Amino acid sequence: MNDLKAFIQDNKDRLLQELFELIRIPSISSKEAHKDDMYEAAAWIKTRLLEKGAEKAEVLDTDGHPVVYGEKTIDPSLPTVLVYGHYDVQPVEPLNLWKSPPFEPEIRDGKIYARGADDDKGQMYMHFAAFEYLVKTAQLPCNVKFMIEGEEEIGSPSLGKFMEQNREKLAADVILVSDTSMLGPDDPSITTGLRGLSYVEVHVTGPNRDLHSGLFGGAVANPINVLCQMIGSLTDDKGRITVEGFYDDVEVLSKEERAEMARAPFDEEAYKKALDIAEVHGEAGYSTLERTGIRPTLDVNGIWGGHTDPGAKTVLPSEAHAKISMRLVPHQDSNKITEVFKKHFLAIAPPYVKVDVEFLHGGEGYVSPTNTVEYQAASKAYEITFGKKPIPVRSGGSIPIISLFEKILGIKAILMGFGLESDAIHSPNENYPLVQFFKGIETIPHFYKNYVEMKK
Ligand code: BES
Ligand code: MN
Ligand code: MN
Repeated sequence: MNDLKAFIQDNKDRLLQELFELIRIPSISSKEAHKDDMYEAAAWIKTRLLEKGAEKAEVLDTDGHPVVYGEKTIDPSLPTVLVYGHYDVQPVEPLNLWKSPPFEPEIRDGKIYARGADDDKGQMYMHFAAFEYLVKTAQLPCNVKFMIEGEEEIGSPSLGKFMEQNREKLAADVILVSDTSMLGPDDPSITTGLRGLSYVEVHVTGPNRDLHSGLFGGAVANPINVLCQMIGSLTDDKGRITVEGFYDDVEVLSKEERAEMARAPFDEEAYKKALDIAEVHGEAGYSTLERTGIRPTLDVNGIWGGHTDPGAKTVLPSEAHAKISMRLVPHQDSNKITEVFKKHFLAIAPPYVKVDVEFLHGGEGYVSPTNTVEYQAASKAYEITFGKKPIPVRSGGSIPIISLFEKILGIKAILMGFGLESDAIHSPNENYPLVQFFKGIETIPHFYKNYVEMKK
């Protein structure tokens, strides 16, 4: 692969221009108004797959947003790698905090700024570039399939059914994904764990209409006050979640495993500085990397009710609402957690309000072993391009489809992410350093080569 660096050098600008075209399509999966953009993005991806060497590519309907599928078979007796990515992105609000418009990609200080620059258009496109290189130079060592979906950011609700219906088509030896991050630009790591998720919305209703807060205040329960008290009681002073049964199935790591985790380089001072916080905070007895990697959480994602427009309005609101996400660790089952949460939240509801818990979406966590051919192949690939052996790290994020691949298709995934914590994914000014983009393109072909050689 001595022509790999030259390929990247010679095609840099074109590859970026291509990625920018994709980024310009505002494929926000959670918004009905962007339905057509989802199809446009899917069609665009299909065309690129064919252009880059896929023998077949198609846009497949699901109950939700379409999936793009593509394949190139060189020899059925060779292994098959299925590349997974997602073309949908998160909403962009608040718009006023973006330095350049979210769907007009711009390069500043060596970084691409745009929604999807990292998550996951930028990371996904590294695979398209690597595929183009391998095909063009006749170095593709195995069969490749692509499955690029459009519902990841809303929890992939239609993908379970889609997989059940397309088992044959999706059959592969390994799933290859770039949708995670690494510890730092010079600290390569491979994500070996993802958290599961249970996402609910809670509704607290008081009086049948908004009331004058002077005439009724003090005599009628205020749903916002009540909701805040209820939420406050969900964690104790040790940062433990009080929901009964919540920790029942949590995987307990051995001393040795925790000692191994502690070897990952982590600069707490830099972390605090980057976030502008005086102290980190979380469950007592655990380090920051443990709090995000191996412990479950409960967070309010949004809370609303009453008067929130500018200026004062003296009102005792009729309703209060909150969105709550629980990040789960291996062995916790998201349906079970949703149930215990619901039971607990209804049980702590005082008699002077009505409380309702609505399930939004969920997904299971994932762990991947390090003693497998795919892990070793990925590890060696990073070692070649970064000059350092990557460290296995359990991430706090979730990619619900990864456990579905395992459950429905029986295929393990390898998470070769190149994002950085500073990429501001899901936030204003999301960005992806060009170095990471091109390093990714350089690393991926080595994975293919190592994987096929080591699997023999
Ligand atoms: N790519 C992220 C997940 C991620 C990012 C994992 C960085 C590890 C490191 C993915 O697109 C994502 O945002 N997932 C959602 C899932 C949810 C909407 C069901 C998440 O984690 O909130
Ligand atoms: Mn993603
Ligand atoms: Mn995301």
